[in-house]
Amino acid sequence: MGLDRRDFLRMSALGAGAMAAPGLLTSCTSPPAYAPTSTFAQGVASGFHSDTEVVLWTRVEPLVAPSVNSCDWQVSTSPSMSPVVASGTEVVEAASDHTVKVLVGGLEPGRSYWYRFEAGGVRSTVGRASTLPEPDAELESLRLAYASCQCYGTGYYPAWRDVAARDLDGVVFLGDFIYEAGAIQLLRPVRSEPVAECVTIEDYRTKYRLYRSDPDIQAAQAAHPWAVVWDDHELHNDWNRTDITLNPVRFAAATQAWFEHQPVMPVDGTRIFRSLRFGRLAELHLLDERQYRDPPVDTLLGVTFLTPELARSDRTILGAEQLSWLLGGLAASNDAGVRHQLLGNPVLIGAVRLLDLDTPELRALDPSLLRHAGLYLNSDAWDGFPAERERLISHLVSERIGGVTILTGDIHSFWAGPIRADFEDSSSPAVAYEYAGGAIASPPGDQQSALAASLQPAWDLVDASRNGYGIVECTPEDVTVSFLGVDARYRGSPVTQFATFPRPI
Ligand SMILES: [Fe+2]
Repeated sequence: MGLDRRDFLRMSALGAGAMAAPGLLTSCTSPPAYAPTSTFAQGVASGFHSDTEVVLWTRVEPLVAPSVNSCDWQVSTSPSMSPVVASGTEVVEAASDHTVKVLVGGLEPGRSYWYRFEAGGVRSTVGRASTLPEPDAELESLRLAYASCQCYGTGYYPAWRDVAARDLDGVVFLGDFIYEAGAIQLLRPVRSEPVAECVTIEDYRTKYRLYRSDPDIQAAQAAHPWAVVWDDHELHNDWNRTDITLNPVRFAAATQAWFEHQPVMPVDGTRIFRSLRFGRLAELHLLDERQYRDPPVDTLLGVTFLTPELARSDRTILGAEQLSWLLGGLAASNDAGVRHQLLGNPVLIGAVRLLDLDTPELRALDPSLLRHAGLYLNSDAWDGFPAERERLISHLVSERIGGVTILTGDIHSFWAGPIRADFEDSSSPAVAYEYAGGAIASPPGDQQSALAASLQPAWDLVDASRNGYGIVECTPEDVTVSFLGVDARYRGSPVTQFATFPRPI
């Protein structure tokens, strides 16, 4: 078990980061990490699905209700749960970790519904679900929170409490819903979480049960419909497609637990990339940047010079099928008059280059110098797949796809900046803007901010001093991304909106 690249950046390239004493992680006097007291110990959740369907989710805790083997559900047009417009009963069984997932159809497009479950004579809280608008609906606005990286042991969830209280159309979660291993907890022990690395399906299930035992995430998932994708820690640190063949049993365990515990209906094996269309206002393209990606080449925890091998034109992060789907989907949506193209993008697309070696002076000395040569700090992200990034950018240019806003997770800090047609040229037009929205509770890399002035290309903002999340608000004329900061060491942390990026489209 090793530290991951974010930890490495924190402690080496970016300065001295103090390691917390491992003894603080767990002790025999720590309260048990998971001690359920209610039937619906993980609360309720809903997921976007289509313009006539929603996904409802809960789990019936067998430690509290051991004899319950079925669960009723109801859907209403009112938060009072009257009238009930749809209802049913689902089996509760150990084979799916006592989770309950329902695809409810026959609903009206573009509206909210309320739902609850009942099992063993106990009712759940009431949650809100939403159908998507019809594809050609004209919307005045769309407001989504987006977030990632919620290591339970390293922080509380004041960010989720804030999300729960806001007027939002939904929540986009970009990965690292759980952390399968304990190394990250060394960086900031805040509350008790097991440190053993997950391998079996039961290991992974225990993580989802624990993380969702928190009342603040339960409030956020009851308040809004969610759209969820995974990143690496839902399986293990920095994984790629070769991990599936190297350890198919572990991959199957992690993905089964994910589908059991997320309000997402599997539609094609383990495929999770998909798009959600919000009328003619916006389309959200949700990406899987793990299961099809090529393995890394010659890097030290993600830090690498650009090499011919790294620059190979056939290196892929999305895989051929997903790349084709994304490029085609962006063009089709843009051609259909959809104003905003949102990417739900787990890992940074923009370059994090500390040393720019693609200069006129060096090129004069060496005409064969690689385009975009330099020292990159984060090649587990799109910096490790530069040819595919160029292909995406050139597609946006050639197809004249406008209104592209990239919502990003993974990096445990807030980043904002333009994606230019040619990032060697700061006067080159921006074809998209990227906004990494911090981490819900995973420790931020305090010293990353100090690097911002040295990076080429430049970013508009790098802030690694806090936890938090982002909100994106689209209207027919503009898009505004806001960054919300918290101190996740404290459950009662206040929330500060510390940066706002309005942009006409
Ligand atoms: Fe993370």
